[in-house]
Amino acid sequence: MQGATLNGIDGIEGECGGSCSCATCHVYVDEAWASKLPAMAEAEDEMLDCAESERKGNSRLSCQIKMSEELDGLVVYLPEKQ
Ligand code: FES
Repeated sequence: MQGATLNGIDGIEGECGGSCSCATCHVYVDEAWASKLPAMAEAEDEMLDCAESERKGNSRLSCQIKMSEELDGLVVYLPEKQ
């Protein structure tokens, strides 16, 4: 989320600043990368139910994805609306 908002990427709003309380940073993680992400916490799981666009099996809140060397090149797709 921070990477997107600090670089002017449209489609990720991050209204709550990353405190897992708005779901405006919803992304769909590319299937090739989905298994490389750590499991989501209960708070992220619950907040995803409030996302504006359809929740899918590869939905994540981008503010909860802690970037690392292993995630260099991570591919995510943006939902229709946030
Ligand atoms: S920025 Fe609000 S839930 Fe991610």
